Amino acid sequence: MIRASRHGSLRRETRVSPFFQPRAVRPRRHALTLPRSLVGGHDTSGTTLSWVVKFLADNPHAQATLRRQLRTAYAAAHAEGRQPSVVEITKTSAPYLDAFVEESARVAPTLPIIIREAVVDTTVLGKPIPKGTSVVMYTNGPSYVFPGVPVAEELRSESSRAARQRVGVWDDETMARFTPERWLKNKDPAEAGGGANEFDSVEFDAQSGPMLTFGAGPRGCFGRRLAYLEIRLVTALLVWNFEFEKCPEALSSYNAKDILTTMPRKCFVKLRRV
Ligand code: HEM
Repeated sequence: MIRASRHGSLRRETRVSPFFQPRAVRPRRHALTLPRSLVGGHDTSGTTLSWVVKFLADNPHAQATLRRQLRTAYAAAHAEGRQPSVVEITKTSAPYLDAFVEESARVAPTLPIIIREAVVDTTVLGKPIPKGTSVVMYTNGPSYVFPGVPVAEELRSESSRAARQRVGVWDDETMARFTPERWLKNKDPAEAGGGANEFDSVEFDAQSGPMLTFGAGPRGCFGRRLAYLEIRLVTALLVWNFEFEKCPEALSSYNAKDILTTMPRKCFVKLRRV
C-alpha cells in the first residue's frame, strides 16, 4: 500500500509541479516522499479522530442515531453478536455513517489553513494579487462553520460562479452546529427502500454545502480517500462497542493546541460498553 501511495504521489507530482523532473525519479526520491505521506497521513487522521470522540460525547442524539444506523446496516453482525468486518463496514451503504464522518471532517479544525502562492499577477474577488503573494485561506472559517463574508456576485470568477450552481449553501443560523443530517437528502421515491427502517429513504449528498477541509485542486489532499476509510472504520467500531458520555466542563473544553495539527487540549470522555 505504501509503495502504491508513493507511486501515486510521484505520478501526481510530475503533473502538478513545474520543478519536478520525471527522469530524476530514483529510489531515493521515492524515500523522500514517504515521510510527507506518513506525517501528512498519521497526525491528520489521528487528530480528526480525537475531535470525533468529543463530537460523539457532546451530541448524544447523533451518537444514538449513528448506533442505530450501524445495527441496521450490519444486521448480520448484530444478530450473530460479533464485530462487523472491514469488508462489511467499507462495502455496505450506511448514509448516516457517511454523514457523521463528513460532518466531523467539516467541523474539526485539524488543518485550519491552506496557502497558495500566486505564480502570476492576478485578481481575487476584485483585489489585485501581485505575483509571489501568499494567499491564506481558512478551511474552518467563514462560509464553512460560520457565516461567510458578503461578496458582490460580479466580483466572483466564472469558475466560482459555476461552483455555486453545483454545491449548496449552509444556513447561517445552524452552520456552526454539529449536524450530520445536513449531509443527507431524501432519495428519489422510485429508489427508496420499502421503509423498513429510518435510513431507507435517505442518501448521503457530498454536494450539500461547501467544505475545504482537504484543500482543493491539483494540490488538494493526496490522502483524502484513505483518511475517510480510516475515520469510517474507527468511528464505526468505537460506536459499535462503546457509549460516549461527556465529562465535567473542566475536562471537555474546545480549547485547542497547534502542533503539526490543531488538536483538542481536553479529550476526555466517559466510556460505557454497549
Ligand atoms: C482527516 C485527515 C486529513 C486532513 C484533514 C488532511 C488535510 C490536508 C490539507 C488541508 C492539505 C493541503 C491541501 C491544499 O493545499 O489544497 C493536505 C495535503 C496533503 N495530504 Fe492530507 N489530510 C488528511 C489525511 C491525509 C492522509 C491519510 C494522507 C496520506 C496518504 C495525506 C497526505 C497528504 C499529502 C501528501 C498532501 C500534500 C499534497 C500536495 O502538496 O500535492 N493526508 N491534506
